[in-house]
Amino acid sequence: MKVFHTSQSLVEHLSKETRPIGMVPTMGALHLGHLSLIERALSENQTVLVSIFINPTQFDNKADLENYPINIETDLKKIEQLPGKIFVYTPKVKDVYGNLVASKSIDLGGLDQVMEGKKRSGHFQGVATVVVHFLKVFTPNHAYFGEKDFQQLRIIEHITQSLKLNTEIIGCPIIRERDGLAMSSRNNFLSSDQRKLASKIFKGLKFAKSNAKKESYNTLKKMVMDFFEKYDELNLDYFTIAHPKTLKEVDLKEPVDLGRGFIAAYLGKIRLIDNLDMS
Ligand code: PAF
Repeated sequence: MKVFHTSQSLVEHLSKETRPIGMVPTMGALHLGHLSLIERALSENQTVLVSIFINPTQFDNKADLENYPINIETDLKKIEQLPGKIFVYTPKVKDVYGNLVASKSIDLGGLDQVMEGKKRSGHFQGVATVVVHFLKVFTPNHAYFGEKDFQQLRIIEHITQSLKLNTEIIGCPIIRERDGLAMSSRNNFLSSDQRKLASKIFKGLKFAKSNAKKESYNTLKKMVMDFFEKYDELNLDYFTIAHPKTLKEVDLKEPVDLGRGFIAAYLGKIRLIDNLDMS
């Protein structure tokens, strides 16, 4: 494992490496979900680049940015245990943005107009800005993203195609805790009571899936809302079933078993998201 703090030195070293190169962009606080992305990248590439960068432009909430977990030493120890050639990029904000820390205006094909994009203003422009920057500067052959951030994955696929970037985007399955909770750096903030309740998010999605063939979407929505009503401390932000490619919400009368179910919910101030194929 080699660690780089500037893109200039990293690009110099990468140019001497045999391809394919696989990239796993992260914001650190690595958990088994991230490690599974790195393992997949190692199995499909000669060299793997892991970026650890808390991207300021994708936070719509200052407190969220300030409280984002940082644990570079622990992250590096976790990466070091994986076998293979790994370059880690841990830049300062200036190395990525220069003096102008702002999102670019990138066409996201309307995929940012729903769900997380609607709730978190500017979030996906920030994500797109940093991902496009990384893909242009490091030109990896493959880049790996988890399906937990399903909307993010679709948006990154869209921009890679529309900007004709030479990187293949590879979506990887959600890694879950034993009780079904999707792994996330935000899970670290949950109290033990909140942590127990958090598993209901996936249970809610499974409940929706088990009824998706029987009920109309309209009825299913009400059923899922009732499911979450039982838990005072767990507040549903949205439950939506959307087309897995366009992310358009399915018609209320349509059969929903071909869509993908998406949930965002609050436990206190912690916001968690999850999704599940309804078929
Ligand atoms: O999913 C994340 O951790 C971030 O949104 C990403 C893709 C690393 C961009 O900052």
